[in-house]
Amino acid sequence: MPTPRTSRTRDRWALELEARARAHWTAARTDELLQGKDVLIRPGDAATLLRALGLLNADASLPPAQVRKYFQINHMVGQLRLTFEELRARHATIRLLDAGCGRSYLTLLLAWCGAHVWRHPIEVLGVDRNPAVIEECRRRTELAQLDGVARFEVAALDQLDAIDVPAELHGVIALHACDTATCDAIAIGVARRAELVAVAPCCQAELARGWEALADGQGDLAPIWRTPHLRRETAAHLTDAMRMLLLRAAGYRTTAIEFIPSEHTRKNTLIRAVRGDGPDPAAASEYDTLVRATGGVGLALAKRL
Ligand SMILES: C[S@@+](CC[C@H](N)C(=O)[O-])C[C@H]1O[C@@H](n2cnc3c(N)ncnc32)[C@H](O)[C@@H]1O
Repeated sequence: MPTPRTSRTRDRWALELEARARAHWTAARTDELLQGKDVLIRPGDAATLLRALGLLNADASLPPAQVRKYFQINHMVGQLRLTFEELRARHATIRLLDAGCGRSYLTLLLAWCGAHVWRHPIEVLGVDRNPAVIEECRRRTELAQLDGVARFEVAALDQLDAIDVPAELHGVIALHACDTATCDAIAIGVARRAELVAVAPCCQAELARGWEALADGQGDLAPIWRTPHLRRETAAHLTDAMRMLLLRAAGYRTTAIEFIPSEHTRKNTLIRAVRGDGPDPAAASEYDTLVRATGGVGLALAKRL
């Protein structure tokens, strides 16, 4: 999809697309898609954004292959609705970081919500180590007319000093930032005292890698350590439990929920952490106990917080 070159061409493109979307997304079609689900962004109301993200066809229809992503990003932001409401009440401009932003689905949805749904000043920075995806994010931002609201930079998450990051970050979000990149996102949020840290983890392999070395051992969990599939599956949940404990130990109140039904993706856990009144020493001790009970392999994140 070429990017319209001038802002007049872009405006005309957006107007024509929105007209097609209004015609296509009748109440009956919208109800058929949503099946009673409450979403922040209805396809007929955000055609410019959804087309820029490659989720809508040129005729404004939503191809079946994109339905999953459409619901994934809507549900993730929807689950954080109340926290964003609180951030809006507290800050004249909300500053967010999307860590491991990939091709900007979540980043631009957040920027769109600020500009068009919440109508509250917002600055969203998307960071990814892949220069090709950042180039694509910038193209999409221009097309969605969100320049000035969303910005994108190439960087590894453990090297943010190399780029311009706002001194004050209110929220750090990461959707499926691979493996320990989710820990990087948590570390950034805690270090910058972000009020919200929200991560939907994927490929949690750090514990599984450590347990592999124990596969020939005699520990209580040896049957799991010996079986690669079970090792990975068990590691995923324990990693998230450890992340929650470390966040609580660092002063956050945490919850873990299923943010999207598993038919959309199995990577459907959302850890939401909101900065609270102070560190919880009991959580630090529960973390140590859990590490000992599961073979002594912890997360590198523990040393960073
Ligand atoms: C599975 S994709 C998810 C992208 C996006 N958040 C989404 O849900 O559409 C993970 C992204 O994280 C990026 N990533 C992984 N590790 C990273 C790191 N250490 N620093 C920066 N980006 C990283 C990858 O380049 C990739 O674009």
